Amino acid sequence: MKRRVTAIVLAAGKGSRMNSSVPKQYLSLLGKPVLSYSLKAFEESNVDEIILVTGRGEQEYCRREIVQKYQFNKVTQIIEGGAERYHSVYRGLLAAEETEYVLIHDGARPLITTQVINLLIEKVKLTRACIAGMPVKDTIQLVTEEKEIASTPLRRLVWMAQTPQCFEYNLVKASYQKAIESCDKDITDDAMVVQRYGGEKIIMVEAGYENIKVTTPEDIMIAEAFLVHR
Ligand code: CTP
Ligand code: MG
Repeated sequence: MKRRVTAIVLAAGKGSRMNSSVPKQYLSLLGKPVLSYSLKAFEESNVDEIILVTGRGEQEYCRREIVQKYQFNKVTQIIEGGAERYHSVYRGLLAAEETEYVLIHDGARPLITTQVINLLIEKVKLTRACIAGMPVKDTIQLVTEEKEIASTPLRRLVWMAQTPQCFEYNLVKASYQKAIESCDKDITDDAMVVQRYGGEKIIMVEAGYENIKVTTPEDIMIAEAFLVHR
């Protein structure tokens, strides 16, 4: 039996750290919108369908200027997100019914490759839960609200969590349901939810240092430099 795989691509953020009037997922990278790069990587991957989550009033723009224009035929739904990332994820999960695995991806990570997506799909079928990430390069210091250093975790055990974050559908949906019922407001990451509320082991998969999230203005230059070198 073929097991259905759904990508949920998040593009409902406001991009406040980018300081741009246009949300960062629609900014141009070498002439094409940031969001179009990750959609292309998923389109060419082994996922069966893509659910695109966008901001209020942006659905028609996305349909016309991105999905139709670049012929992303695997996009089956374009839905409205919510106020926080985890609200957008939860809406995506509700829309994804009838699937076996989901890959949750930040539309602001244009450097993701089809190869890494396919690797994660193979891995999640074996593990139930795995995410893209990389070991940190700098030492990370945990500080207090007063910016006083509180403790230093061992560098070799500290990893950056990237996306896609991939889970068995029932596991991630039940975990999110519990997080939302508990009014947990600290959620910034899907693995965090599944670890806290699903009690499942989650495996890190090295996805490369290029898989950055476009967050602040200099990230546009960094992303373009990577794309030029491909
Ligand atoms: N996102 C979303 N819905 C939200 C907030 C974020 O779908 N309510 C998406 C963003 O569009 C982005 C991804 O989640 O693709 C990662 O979030 P982040 O980098 O924090 O993006 P923004 O929230 O847009 O940026 P900022 O935090 O600087 O405002
Ligand atoms: Mg944000």
